[in-house]
Amino acid sequence: MKNIELKINIGVYNTFEELPSSVQKLMSKAIEAKQTAYAPYSKFSVGAALLLENGEIVTGNNQENAAYPSGMCAERVAIWSAATQYPNQKILKLAISASSSSQILKEPVAPCGACRQSLLEYEVKQNEKIEVYFTGEEGKIIKTHSIIDLLPIAFDKSFL
Ligand code: THU
Repeated sequence: MKNIELKINIGVYNTFEELPSSVQKLMSKAIEAKQTAYAPYSKFSVGAALLLENGEIVTGNNQENAAYPSGMCAERVAIWSAATQYPNQKILKLAISASSSSQILKEPVAPCGACRQSLLEYEVKQNEKIEVYFTGEEGKIIKTHSIIDLLPIAFDKSFL
């Protein structure tokens, strides 16, 4: 057996103000989208904003359901909305912000595994990386340079 080390390079911004201004704008849209999340059960609100190649910003937030598994995460609401409205536009960046009613989220909230898989589909489709920026309510923002950095050794269409 040989061991192969996988290395992932991430960016860490200490404050919102440290972000490039285009990302500040995108993150502001994610924060705005978070305000209208429908999360009466978890009381955990997430907003996501995607910047497309044509300059459009598409947002999404989490939508819960009394039958719990029928709800949907903010990231997938956003990416499927973008894929519906702008099927041929490349996605450049994704910003994600989360809030909880039970604690102030001081650490960046990373997208869940199912969202990573769904997001990867579109990164593979467009053959160009999507930058991801995620944060909590205060403090640091983490940047990954691509979706595959969030989901190494992934399943994709190449196996089908
Ligand atoms: N949630 C998201 O919207 N995105 C994630 O990546 C993690 C979780 C939502 C789903 C659910 O409505 C609530 O947060 C608590 O899990």
